[in-house]
Amino acid sequence: MNTPSPQELARQLRKPEGPQGHEVAKWMEMGNAFLTELSYKHAQFQPDENILEIGIGNGNFLPSIKAQIGSGKLVGLDYSEFMVEAAKQNNADHLSQGFQIVHGALPHMPLENNSFDKVISINTLYFWDEPSTYLEDIKRVLTPTGKLILGFRTKESVEGLPFSQYGFTLYSLEEAKAFLTQEELTIEHCECQLDPKTENKLTAAVIVASV
Ligand SMILES: C[S@@+](CC[C@H](N)C(=O)[O-])C[C@H]1O[C@@H](n2cnc3c(N)ncnc32)[C@H](O)[C@@H]1O
Repeated sequence: MNTPSPQELARQLRKPEGPQGHEVAKWMEMGNAFLTELSYKHAQFQPDENILEIGIGNGNFLPSIKAQIGSGKLVGLDYSEFMVEAAKQNNADHLSQGFQIVHGALPHMPLENNSFDKVISINTLYFWDEPSTYLEDIKRVLTPTGKLILGFRTKESVEGLPFSQYGFTLYSLEEAKAFLTQEELTIEHCECQLDPKTENKLTAAVIVASV
């Protein structure tokens, strides 16, 4: 990838667009594989569950969720038309009534109330400009026993990186847990691990919380 400026990289991470957005999405797919797999592991997807992933990038990890939920419904949502198109192409052979890619934005997701057992989102928390409003929309689509799984990089591991100065709100594990608790979610479990895919420079954090 041609090296973008920190501002440009920050803009592309928030909402990948155009040819450079596709390159950034590929770069994220590789660089975030460990965090994604850790988040999916903690999600403990079960057969027949209905799952929503928000902020899917190029969507290349979605089939592994679908394989676990079987006839459950999987929706991957993103507000970048470029990512939605890429995810549709990358999953063209698998899309069906039970596996859809949807163009839409948190916090106004075009999805029905009470329709998902689990909502998962990886590396989007930094961009929640009004965190309570964003979380409210997630709670709206979760069933009364639903769970939210958030995967993110900890504040401590990212704050020195130049791009993080441009529009990122960073959270330590404790800050993210405190935010969810304050919004009346119950923390079920969490884990922080140094990420070997980043030569242990970045920390992968996952929180599972119930409504
Ligand atoms: C930093 S990328 C992360 C992609 C992937 N989850 C990963 O961890 O590699 C953020 C993704 O979430 C999408 N996104 C960010 N905020 C969003 C929002 N409010 N609603 C929908 N999609 C959002 C972006 O378009 C982008 O595809």
